[in-house]
Amino acid sequence: MYIEMTKESFTGNREIDAHHRHLVESFNAFLGAFRLRKQKEELGPLLDNLVDYATYHFSAEELWMMDMRYPDVAAHIEEHAAFVRRLSDIQRNFAAGRPAVSLEVLAFLSSWLKTHMRKSDAQVTSYCRKSGQCAKAA
Ligand SMILES: [Fe+2]
Ligand SMILES: [Fe+2]
Repeated sequence: MYIEMTKESFTGNREIDAHHRHLVESFNAFLGAFRLRKQKEELGPLLDNLVDYATYHFSAEELWMMDMRYPDVAAHIEEHAAFVRRLSDIQRNFAAGRPAVSLEVLAFLSSWLKTHMRKSDAQVTSYCRKSGQCAKAA
């Protein structure tokens, strides 16, 4: 369930790649703490960190897509928004002491992040390269 950065995860945009690396690290740190059955006091800040960083990264990526005039920007923004809504629900429930995090939830987050980077973000990369706005090889 841990996420690894593979060749396909790289966009060729240095800033976005650094964001993805950080995002993956934030997710893995949260998953690791959950697996070690860390207490709420430790898990809470790691969850907040993941949500904050995901939000920050999505905004930066959305600006990047708009700068490049990426044609599917609206659908991509909606994917981000749906994920942030899901994360916010988890965060709200967690803060209220309701059961919010389980291996099932973590599997969903892991699979969403992997698929999103390898499919949706990869499409942005491919557009970036084809339109001559990104370096060819990552
Ligand atoms: Fe994205
Ligand atoms: Fe991304």
